[in-house]
Amino acid sequence: MSIVVTGATGNLGRHVVEQLLEKVPADQITAVVRTPEKAADFAAKGVKIAVADYNAPETFDGLLAAGDKVLLVSGNEFDKGRPGQHQVVIDAAKAAGVALLAYTSAPGTLSAALADDHRATEKALLASGLPYALLRNGWYHENYTENLAPVLQYSAVTQAAGAGRVSSASRADYAAAAVAVLTGEGHESKTYELGGDVAWSFAEYAAELSAQTGKEIAYNAVSVEDFTGILAGAGLPAPLASILAGVDASIEKGELVVSSGDLSRLAGRPTTPLAEAITAALKG
Ligand SMILES: NC(=O)c1ccc[n+]([C@@H]2O[C@H](COP(=O)([O-])OP(=O)(O)OC[C@H]3O[C@@H](n4cnc5c(N)ncnc54)[C@H](OP(=O)(O)O)[C@@H]3O)[C@@H](O)[C@H]2O)c1
Repeated sequence: MSIVVTGATGNLGRHVVEQLLEKVPADQITAVVRTPEKAADFAAKGVKIAVADYNAPETFDGLLAAGDKVLLVSGNEFDKGRPGQHQVVIDAAKAAGVALLAYTSAPGTLSAALADDHRATEKALLASGLPYALLRNGWYHENYTENLAPVLQYSAVTQAAGAGRVSSASRADYAAAAVAVLTGEGHESKTYELGGDVAWSFAEYAAELSAQTGKEIAYNAVSVEDFTGILAGAGLPAPLASILAGVDASIEKGELVVSSGDLSRLAGRPTTPLAEAITAALKG
């Protein structure tokens, strides 16, 4: 029996494995990765490494065992049919008879196209009859704080979210919730709506950036159409630019405000303030 984490060399997966190592012996953790070299640090700590790819169902043959608790981290290959990729893991989990399959989803309120793959995966997971937990992760602070270069260059936060608010949290916070579910009891058939304790607007985000940098940084609110063009102009493939701009439309409608308190409850502490994530990003 193992706690199995897919996407373990991704940003979220790394946090999950690192936090699991603080709670359970390394040999009870399996990191599922595509590139084992990227997981050398985990292997050195005694974490079991399994190599598999959502695009190659056979790579999951025999990877999971009865009683395993599995975290399926949603993939990032938007052009490859993520529901089909996730189904590969669901099928493998079903064949093995795992004790829990937890899935990193999106907030139930999110109507943007980005949520479509998540809703399809949730449906497949429920249809499988497996013991499941839905971790409906809200937005990451890092979606913004890891992309500060153009903001600092132009002294502007350009988004298409109007006065909408978003209750983001750090990846480490969402990882803490996942670890609580993977190591605790009684999470079967639970749906957690996860988000930060504090919802903020982009005007407030710009003001915090101004305060921390000493530069005047303004919020430049543009239309969804213009934002799509700006993202595509910055090099994003057109379909992805459209999907991301669609998220801003959802933010304007309040769809990324999560007020359940589930995240801080599962993590057992308040979520990381946005200001802290900004400070860390400016230092980095
Ligand atoms: N809530 C939010 O704000 C937000 C923001 C962005 C993304 N997300 C979603 O949350 C997930 C985790 O976030 P993140 O920041 O950790 O993203 P990330 O750093 O891009 O990690 C994605 C992980 O998925 C793995 N992966 C992708 N395609 C795969 C495949 N075909 N087979 C096996 N593994 C595959 C990647 O493997 P490699 O390490 O080998 O590349 C990586 O480990 C994302 O993939 C995305 O679905 C959420």
